[in-house]
Amino acid sequence: MARIYTEWRCAWFGLILVTLLSGSSFGIPTEDVSTLPKYLQSLEHRIYPDLREISKQIYHHPEIGRNETFAHAITVDYFQNRAPGDWNVYPNILETLPTAWKLESSHKPSHWHGKGNKILPAVGFLCEFDALAGIGHSCGHNLIHLVGVYAASLAREALVHYNIPGRIVVVGTPDEEESCGKHDLFLAGAFEDSQIWMMAHPASSSAVPPLSARQNVVVRIKRATHFEAVKEVYNTLVLLRNLSLTGTLPGSFSTVSLIEDVGLFVCNVVQADIALGVVGANVTVVNNTINAIKAANAGYAQTNFTVTDDPNIKGGVAISFVGNSGHTATDNLGSLTLSVDSFRTLNASNPNLKFYLPDNSTSTELDFTIDLRTRYTLDMDSLIDIVVSLLPTNNWSLDVIYPAVEVEPYLGSLFIDTMTLPEYGNQTFPFSTTPPAAGDTSWVQRADVVKQGGNYTLQSVAKATVHPTFNICNYNRTVTPCPLNHEPGFRLLAATEFAFRETEKVGRALAQMAVELLNDPDVMAGATAIIRTGPDTKF
Ligand SMILES: *[C@@H]1O[C@H](CO)[C@@H](O)[C@H](O)[C@H]1NC(C)=O
Ligand SMILES: *[C@@H]1O[C@H](CO)[C@@H](O)[C@H](O)[C@H]1NC(C)=O
Ligand SMILES: *[C@@H]1O[C@H](CO)[C@@H](O)[C@H](O)[C@H]1NC(C)=O
Ligand SMILES: *[C@@H]1O[C@H](CO)[C@@H](O)[C@H](O)[C@H]1NC(C)=O
Ligand SMILES: *[C@@H]1O[C@H](CO)[C@@H](O)[C@H](O)[C@H]1NC(C)=O
Ligand SMILES: *[C@@H]1O[C@H](CO)[C@@H](O)[C@H](O)[C@H]1NC(C)=O
Ligand SMILES: *[C@@H]1O[C@H](CO)[C@@H](O)[C@H](O)[C@H]1NC(C)=O
Ligand SMILES: *[C@@H]1O[C@H](CO)[C@@H](O)[C@H](O)[C@H]1NC(C)=O
Ligand SMILES: *[C@@H]1O[C@H](CO)[C@@H](O)[C@H](O)[C@H]1NC(C)=O
Ligand SMILES: *[C@@H]1O[C@H](CO)[C@@H](O)[C@H](O)[C@H]1NC(C)=O
Ligand SMILES: *[C@@H]1O[C@H](CO)[C@@H](O)[C@H](O)[C@H]1NC(C)=O
Ligand SMILES: [Zn+2]
Repeated sequence: MARIYTEWRCAWFGLILVTLLSGSSFGIPTEDVSTLPKYLQSLEHRIYPDLREISKQIYHHPEIGRNETFAHAITVDYFQNRAPGDWNVYPNILETLPTAWKLESSHKPSHWHGKGNKILPAVGFLCEFDALAGIGHSCGHNLIHLVGVYAASLAREALVHYNIPGRIVVVGTPDEEESCGKHDLFLAGAFEDSQIWMMAHPASSSAVPPLSARQNVVVRIKRATHFEAVKEVYNTLVLLRNLSLTGTLPGSFSTVSLIEDVGLFVCNVVQADIALGVVGANVTVVNNTINAIKAANAGYAQTNFTVTDDPNIKGGVAISFVGNSGHTATDNLGSLTLSVDSFRTLNASNPNLKFYLPDNSTSTELDFTIDLRTRYTLDMDSLIDIVVSLLPTNNWSLDVIYPAVEVEPYLGSLFIDTMTLPEYGNQTFPFSTTPPAAGDTSWVQRADVVKQGGNYTLQSVAKATVHPTFNICNYNRTVTPCPLNHEPGFRLLAATEFAFRETEKVGRALAQMAVELLNDPDVMAGATAIIRTGPDTKF
């Protein structure tokens, strides 16, 4: 290592001499980094085991967004006290988001001083580490954390090894799932450290995909009695369910998913357990009604129910629906949907039936959330307009939007090309146009898309980003379908040896990209060409 370093220094001094003599403005020379893939591979045994162990610990201590105190502490402790190399650690970068953190490391070769006040080129990595309420790391964010800290650690070592001037930044971004932690960090300027931000997300397939826009409408319904409130809510849920059924939503990949704000209420997990009570029909009638609904729709095969006399409510029959949880999507005919269909049929059969919530039959205010998703941010307003036009109240509010994440061709291609190298397993990552989910990386990228006729075109971004998904499913998928992110089964994938091996390769590939970006001004210029210049008025 030392020998290469010395040779390189000699080459550099020669260049400075030429620069001074000619008086021209030389760009930063491109170092020969043809050994980089092998060099990064050689670091694995030294850097990876500790970081994989931290990822495993985060996996075994799942914490929901804004409460990731364990993940925060273990990361900060490692980089302050044990990490190989030299990191500046900022344990608290935002008072209102106490689990956000930052790492920073600069490598300035001695000749760099000759460059005056020129700012070191930088590459940033994004680390997520929140879990899902009730189903742990079923989105595998423990592996996103691992990709980020591993890639950053490798890139930092490589800058020193090849004596490349550059700055590596890592931001630990809490709460991706629920209330958009990256929006808080964006407002605080946390992404101004770099023009480039990279991350990778484990999934059940490998791709460079866009992400949908997402926004939640929170509806509050208050009536004189609990029975009236429940009937009003379910009347509205019927209208909203019909909206999805008729397939007339604006935009593409648009969905309207319903969430009851009782029991396990979280906006990013389909509710598995729903309870509904009815007064005025007996157990046999209710049971037969729902059996008929299930029999008529194969989509309900995985959603089950039980009907019992309710000892707490006079004449009450309690229904308990149990279904799969998973990514919110209209094609998921889960327990809330079955309860809506059951309400519609029972209510139509007898308008005098009364409905209640067996878990809490006193509350006169009942809230629910409508989770809206659509491929392009531009279509969100018209989706919201349609949905709120069906509400029986003006008492609704919107949460912080997750804008769509757009695919950037330059960084996407660089990632795809890197993964085809033998050091990364000769892997094929396709560009994809299908958004597998929504995500808050959009508050880093802040893409400007224009719509002309039916065409959507990416114009510019505030920061260049890359956000591939990588397959951690080691199943024979012709036999067993792989669980999707946010399904309970995905949690089991997120700590397998296969997942850790795939994560290692992807993290290393991002490190390779970071070094190439910092070393080669042409690569940096290619990746940042899409960044808009001038005043940033978008968003
Ligand atoms: C937050 O995390 C701590 C420990 O990591 C746990 O004890 C606590 O129950 C969590 N709180 C919530 C609201 O999840
Ligand atoms: C909802 O859709 C169902 C099934 O298509 C239909 O029978 C019902 O009349 C619709 N209800 C409303 C309120 O639109
Ligand atoms: C349930 O109600 C139906 C319809 O009112 C009635 O025909 C049936 O006898 C009732 N069954 C029992 C067990 O009460
Ligand atoms: C409901 O119907 C199912 C299927 O016919 C039956 O197995 C079950 O015993 C019924 N439950 C009650 C409470 O009648
Ligand atoms: C519902 O029942 C079906 C058939 O017995 C079963 O395959 C499925 O796992 C059950 N779903 C849940 C959520 O328990
Ligand atoms: C349910 O019944 C009530 C009458 O009690 C009726 O006004 C309402 O439209 C019905 N709901 C649906 C969704 O059909
Ligand atoms: C029922 O809901 C009311 C109003 O939201 C609340 O004050 C009460 O604590 C709840 N009771 C239970 C048992 O959850
Ligand atoms: C809306 O609901 C909230 C929460 O219950 C309540 O505080 C507020 O007064 C309601 N506003 C209106 C206009 O009804
Ligand atoms: C990748 O391809 C190279 C040659 O093209 C081959 O030697 C190597 O075994 C391949 N590696 C994997 C993991 O398939
Ligand atoms: C949309 O793009 C297609 C393919 O590039 C082009 O043929 C078509 O004219 C475009 N439409 C509009 C309205 O710009
Ligand atoms: C996957 O299962 C199918 C059907 O049993 C079999 O034909 C195929 O060889 C299996 N593939 C692998 C990679 O095991
Ligand atoms: Zn996720």
